[in-house]
Amino acid sequence: EYTLFGESLISYKGSVFLSKYLHGGIPGGLAHLDNLKNFQIRDDDVFIVTFPKSGTTWMQYIIYILFEDGHPELADNATWNVMPWLEYAKPDSKHPRGENSRLYCTHLPEHMAPQGLKDNKGKVIYVMRNPKDVLVSYVHFSNIFRTFDTVSNLDQILEDFLSGKVHGGSWFDHVKGWFERKDEYNILFVSYEEMKMDLRSVVRKVSEFVGKSLSDEDIDKVVDRVTFENMKTDSKANYDISAMDMVFDMSKGKFLRKGTIGDWKNSLTVAQSERFDQVYQERMQGLPLQFIWDIK
Ligand code: A3P
Repeated sequence: EYTLFGESLISYKGSVFLSKYLHGGIPGGLAHLDNLKNFQIRDDDVFIVTFPKSGTTWMQYIIYILFEDGHPELADNATWNVMPWLEYAKPDSKHPRGENSRLYCTHLPEHMAPQGLKDNKGKVIYVMRNPKDVLVSYVHFSNIFRTFDTVSNLDQILEDFLSGKVHGGSWFDHVKGWFERKDEYNILFVSYEEMKMDLRSVVRKVSEFVGKSLSDEDIDKVVDRVTFENMKTDSKANYDISAMDMVFDMSKGKFLRKGTIGDWKNSLTVAQSERFDQVYQERMQGLPLQFIWDIK
């Protein structure tokens, strides 16, 4: 058990999960957090960066397929074994893929990212999603993720989310931080909504970004494997295996839950949605980012 800034962390098989959340936009937590700034980046490293519940696992599986097919020694492994979390990796651990094209996921805000990611070293794929859907997905996730408290009061979690007191910190700061400094990175922005509406184009765009040229037929194969229906039953991607029982209680719901755009409309009241809009307008004002979603 580690302690960071007074918060308690639990350890599971070498990974560390924050028991609740940290204020100040710091997601997760780990003993080597301070060292992350100096984490050595290689030009062919690929990082998926997201605010939690924005489509991390989805993009993770696309990248996994692009890099791992044809590598039988690793292809049998689950996605998360091949593409570890940067913030939960042990400081001295070797990457499972070795030294070439190391693949990582992270929820880190831009100000905590490794310095070497700037100056166009390494590739960053930033996936973002309508924050109202992120919130609703987060609520359901809290109910199956054993580390988190079950959410019973939607008004409360809404306020916590809007003020950044959730895992991942502030959604607004996360998106703004990465977007406002995008010129300092070799970064591709992708939205969950884009992935839902035109998965094929996203797979092509992402594969080109990471330097893989695929035939139309190969693109089709990747697209087929990463549809919601196929990922939901794929034990390499759905976390629904007995080894993950300590982490998730899938009797209360599935990690691949609904996978739709606009599910927030089934959960948030009009008043809650308006409250969200109000804070959204305040916080996102002046940002030259044209979001694909209509948050109303
Ligand atoms: P829902 O809870 O709305 O269903 P993350 O991986 O960042 O934690 O995000 C999880 C969300 O992405 C969940 O959203 C999950 O269902 C959704 N998701 C994962 N794979 C998906 C896929 N292939 N198609 C659509 N949504 C997917």
